[in-house]
Amino acid sequence: MKQEIKPATGRLGVLVVGVGGAVATTMIVGTLASRKGLAKPIGSITQLATMRMENNEEKLIKDVVPLTNLEDIVFGGWDIFPDNAYEAAMYAEVLKEKDLNGVKEELEAIKPMPAAFDHNWAKRLNGTHIKKAATRWEMVEQLRQDIRDFKAANNCERVVVLWAASTEIYIPLSDEHMSLAALEKAMKENNTEVISPSMCYAYAAIAEDAPFVMGAPNLCVDTPAMWEFSKQKNVPISGKDFKSGQTLMKTVLAPMFKTRMLGVNGWFSTNILGNRDGEVLDDPDNFKTKEVSKLSVIDTIFEPEKYPDLYGDVYHKVRINYYPPRKDNKEAWDNIDIFGWMGYPMEIKVNFLCRDSILAAPIALDLVLFSDLAMRAGMCGIQTWLSFFCKSPMHDFEHQPEHDLFTQWRMVKQTLRNMIGEKEPDYLA
Ligand SMILES: NC(=O)c1ccc[n+]([C@@H]2O[C@H](COP(=O)([O-])OP(=O)(O)OC[C@H]3O[C@@H](n4cnc5c(N)ncnc54)[C@H](O)[C@@H]3O)[C@@H](O)[C@H]2O)c1
Repeated sequence: MKQEIKPATGRLGVLVVGVGGAVATTMIVGTLASRKGLAKPIGSITQLATMRMENNEEKLIKDVVPLTNLEDIVFGGWDIFPDNAYEAAMYAEVLKEKDLNGVKEELEAIKPMPAAFDHNWAKRLNGTHIKKAATRWEMVEQLRQDIRDFKAANNCERVVVLWAASTEIYIPLSDEHMSLAALEKAMKENNTEVISPSMCYAYAAIAEDAPFVMGAPNLCVDTPAMWEFSKQKNVPISGKDFKSGQTLMKTVLAPMFKTRMLGVNGWFSTNILGNRDGEVLDDPDNFKTKEVSKLSVIDTIFEPEKYPDLYGDVYHKVRINYYPPRKDNKEAWDNIDIFGWMGYPMEIKVNFLCRDSILAAPIALDLVLFSDLAMRAGMCGIQTWLSFFCKSPMHDFEHQPEHDLFTQWRMVKQTLRNMIGEKEPDYLA
């Protein structure tokens, strides 16, 4: 059944938490440069991908569904450092100065609003551009005001809030996260042990009818309380953790082993990276959040309970080491011990010399544009179809996450088809 999709009229405000970070500035520069014709949006599904229609015609996704044009985006956001987006991008050193200069004026105009921050949630960070709030509830109120002010000042019809800020420390689900009433109570009582700053951003976004995207592995919006709130407010939420490099490879290789019924008994993954993200993750409490996200991937693909002979005993280890000389140019190594016919062992080595933010930027943009589309199509709560972009896809207690990249890709196309009332083409015809 065809869904009613509101047109993408007017301007879309994209408010980025961590707007001075490497991923955020790389996404912003690339978007601004693309709309000026100075660069190509390589890696972006919304800008470049096509899909086959019922009549076998191949169409660009942006011609299949009404996405917001890059020209209509206005960027803003929050950061704990006051630098404008040009200064921040220079600091991040992901992109060359010549690529920044093409959009320098626009970048200089993007000045972060003071952040909702708590040092206990990211101990390696010491920023000064921070809100003063007596309670978490007050933090929320200030963020809501920021969203309203930004919308009015920039004449935006809609806003999406994207978390591209540092990974917060690991916390498990607790009673305060189990219902909206309990969450609001904990915010009002200023329970800073269980209410993270990211939860304040998410709550504020949902309250202001803005879809919220979680690009880090933080618990944040992945709680029954937030699922309840997003459904109550009819707002889409998505996450967690951009699936950019090593995990992307994992979710392609693991389905291949399984499809060919090859066994796996060990998967060792290690990384070195030297950007600020790496520095934050050097703290064991922050690393734990990332580790849980990275480890969750292969079990659900392998289904060891169904195939105990092949995957009943996989030793899976993930390491991230902070190594400043590499900056944003992460190097990832995977050693995979597999076995084949009659149990004979084999090894696969993957060495991915990637650029973290170059891989993450288009994912961030696509999540924003698809979240805005989902909102206009009346979809709310967890956007399972956006699992394609996430390392640790959000899911409720009744469902299993889907990690296989190709199944996730089918989910994207199926959702878009459902939106416009199309059937899948007959690939054998
Ligand atoms: N680059 C990738 O490939 C990738 C992949 C998956 C997830 N991520 C996640 O995306 C996030 C951003 O990565 P990055 O490389 O841009 O890191 P970064 O350190 O360059 O940027 C993070 C920014 O967030 C700011 N910040 C921290 N806490 C904040 C708060 N409470 N409010 C506002 N701003 C805050 C920091 O000052 C910094 O400018 C990290 O959580 C990272 O783990 C990145």
